[in-house]
Amino acid sequence: MGIFGKSQNKTGGETVVVDDRLKHIGFIMDGNGRWAKKRMMPREYGHREGAKVFEDISEYCGSIGIKAVTVYAFSTENWKRPDNEVGAIMKLFSAYLFKALDSMMKKDIHIVFLGDKSVFSESDRALMDRIERESVNNSKRLNIAVNYGGRDDIVHAVNKAIESGETHITEEIISRNLYTHDCPDPDLIVRTGNEMRLSNFLLWQSAYSELYFTETLWPDMRHADVDEAIRVFYSRKRRYGNV
Ligand code: FPP
Repeated sequence: MGIFGKSQNKTGGETVVVDDRLKHIGFIMDGNGRWAKKRMMPREYGHREGAKVFEDISEYCGSIGIKAVTVYAFSTENWKRPDNEVGAIMKLFSAYLFKALDSMMKKDIHIVFLGDKSVFSESDRALMDRIERESVNNSKRLNIAVNYGGRDDIVHAVNKAIESGETHITEEIISRNLYTHDCPDPDLIVRTGNEMRLSNFLLWQSAYSELYFTETLWPDMRHADVDEAIRVFYSRKRRYGNV
């Protein structure tokens, strides 16, 4: 089966059809600040636009058959940013939680938050737990990495394993204790904003992920850009260490 179906999408192009080779896409949503700066606007404006694009792109991925999406919303390192910027992102995040609670059942999305939730306010934590719990039987998966770091994910997994009595750590034990324990590893990781690194995103899980980097700044990301990343993904040969 080709990856482009015959039916037309809203923008008049052909609809992308994905298969089981592409179950999970991760997005490193970079470039919000530069996008705002180009418009002589404060960085917060870029994050606001970025949050809208996050909703649109994650929904689009679900609509073309991607079973799981992970977005990197806030890293363990992002706390180093100026207080007003951190505050603005957290405000957008809290507002999103209410929207998610309202729409996740209609959209059939199971939302999971990856990362250390202990730093969030009690009300945000309660909302996150409620969202995860109530959406658990929905069929599409959306992971939102907040206060997330790939190294922290691995350390947290090892500690969890030790606490549960494991004395000899194996790859399988680490995998089943990661924040993503019930989700397949990402087949494709897309990073916008012209930076070519993983920045502590899904380090364990990305061992065999295809990486796609684009100059497009996150707030400019559109369905056609996702289609292009998917086209490139299908042009790659994944060998997993084989010949
Ligand atoms: C990177 O761009 C982006 C972030 C650190 C934050 C991403 C946050 C959002 C998209 C909005 C909030 C998310 C949710 C889930 C509601 P940057 O600021 O590093 O951009 P730059 O490299 O151009 O400075």
